Amino acid sequence: MNLTAATRLAGVVGNPISHSLSPILHNAWLEAAGLDGAYLAFGLAPGRFRAFVDGLRGGTLAGINVTLPFKTEALAAADRVSARAHAAGAANVLVFGPDGSVSADNTDGEGLLYAFARQAPGFRPDSGPLVLYGAGGAARGAVAAFLEAGCPEVRLLNRTRARAEDLAARFGDRVRALNTTDPDALSGAAALVNASSAGLGPDAPPPPDFSGAPTTAVAMDMTYRPLRTPFLKAAAARGLRTVDGLDMLIGQAIPAFTAFFGQPPPAAADVRGRVLRLLGEAP
Ligand code: ATR
Repeated sequence: MNLTAATRLAGVVGNPISHSLSPILHNAWLEAAGLDGAYLAFGLAPGRFRAFVDGLRGGTLAGINVTLPFKTEALAAADRVSARAHAAGAANVLVFGPDGSVSADNTDGEGLLYAFARQAPGFRPDSGPLVLYGAGGAARGAVAAFLEAGCPEVRLLNRTRARAEDLAARFGDRVRALNTTDPDALSGAAALVNASSAGLGPDAPPPPDFSGAPTTAVAMDMTYRPLRTPFLKAAAARGLRTVDGLDMLIGQAIPAFTAFFGQPPPAAADVRGRVLRLLGEAP
């Protein structure tokens, strides 16, 4: 690495931030592309987000990725908001214009569909209902992305049904909340996506019963630690195709890199293999 005063800078902001894989991805791409750029991680105390962003106005950094817990604040801090960030109710990308402006985007939905395209070739989000586990911020982004891609119906299954009802009400007719015990919840499903943040420890809820899902359904888990989650293992045991969360992380980073550094990341750079080795997972 050869940093100079001309080096183009970007980074990721969150709390906690030390486990973020974004610097690994972006710096690997920068190196492979031979670009004079660097990508850093910023751990920010709660309450400091707005001041941090305002201090960067004018282009000290080309842009930042935003992760938990600042994604909603990121939307509020921006002067311009893309349609998809508005629909997701959150931003994971802020770009700083030379005029002092801040533009917000959300590339998480693009990352989700990228993961399906990579690991379940031929899958079409418009081919049938999406069954979505969870009703928080991650779930909201997934609903927005699938509706935008033509998904005919989204069924929300959440521990707290009222929260799923609230989320459904934001989106209109194609989205509804179901009881987690509804025997027909999975019938005819094209996709089953886990957007719940339930931990994976001994107190974690058991994976869903996938016996009511068609064997053509594709199951995806946004979690990538570990890569093969209990959710994906249960889906595979049912004979379903599975998609892991690591390609969603990579898929959301591709358009962010393009926005920060002015060109798409080099396709030849094997960032997935690099991250898998880092996580101690077999490629
Ligand atoms: P995120 O922004 O990651 O989506 P969030 O907005 O806090 O985080 O949402 C977390 C989601 O995971 C919620 O749907 C939550 O269910 P509740 O609405 O019932 O809280 C779900 N979740 C978290 N822990 C869970 C658990 N142990 N069992 C089932 N669902 C859980």
